[in-house]
Amino acid sequence: MIRRFINRNLLDRWDWGVGIADFYSSVDRFVVRPEWLRSFFHGTWLGHPLHPLLTDVPIGGLTIALVLDLLGIYDGANWATLLGFGGLILAAIAGFVDLDETDGKARQYGGVHASLMLVAMAFYIFSLAVRFGYAPGTPYHATLTAALGYLFIVMGAYIGADLVFALGNMVDRHAWRSGGTKWAALDVTEVPERQPTKAKAGAQTLVLVRVGEQISALHDVCAHAGCSLSEGKVVGDTIQCPCHGSRFKIADGSVVVGPATYDQPAFEVRRAEGKLEARRVR
Ligand code: FES
Repeated sequence: MIRRFINRNLLDRWDWGVGIADFYSSVDRFVVRPEWLRSFFHGTWLGHPLHPLLTDVPIGGLTIALVLDLLGIYDGANWATLLGFGGLILAAIAGFVDLDETDGKARQYGGVHASLMLVAMAFYIFSLAVRFGYAPGTPYHATLTAALGYLFIVMGAYIGADLVFALGNMVDRHAWRSGGTKWAALDVTEVPERQPTKAKAGAQTLVLVRVGEQISALHDVCAHAGCSLSEGKVVGDTIQCPCHGSRFKIADGSVVVGPATYDQPAFEVRRAEGKLEARRVR
């Protein structure tokens, strides 16, 4: 009920989120350019999105800092704030790189989420400056600004969680797709060389790629955000998604370039009595 109220009355009306997300993306794409670095911050190497993992550091550090501040243990609070702020910067970089590859409502919510976190960072910068003697103020001012920053983090985290749990952003599109050992007939008999070809195998939609005599098959729905890989292109030994550029190995579906972080379900293909059949192998 609370979520519905917030979404209907605030988030869904804040369409400035898309415009601000576009602005953040223009800056971020200029700063974080190399493909390998972007994949690193997406978490492609980890097989898991990196941003939610990194957010544990600022949330933990800044929560401890707030408690220590309230107990009057300022030395400990200062260092915990510094640790949390360092984590906040890393989480922000990963978050901005993820935000670049969003569309629709996820982009709108992402723009709002990022803006709240930037406001939080501004409060924490001031708090740290006071704590370490770079700005005038007392422990009271350091604590007050940190508490305001923490409030914005809580609001931002709420929207960040909605991005994942309500909108399914960065969730594996094949999370609920089970395997299966049976061969299923494909509705195509010919596959042009190195040309992604869409085919049905029972209820599953696959993309087939033939290299020489070898035909490989992956699920057609991109694990990142659901685009059709058969509308993409073959790049070396990979297939590239047309939407955000993720690349998966044709042979086994492993993700090699993000934003996707999860592998693509892979199928083996055989020819039986002149027809093509496929079954899932991973
Ligand atoms: S849907 Fe985003 S890379 Fe495929």
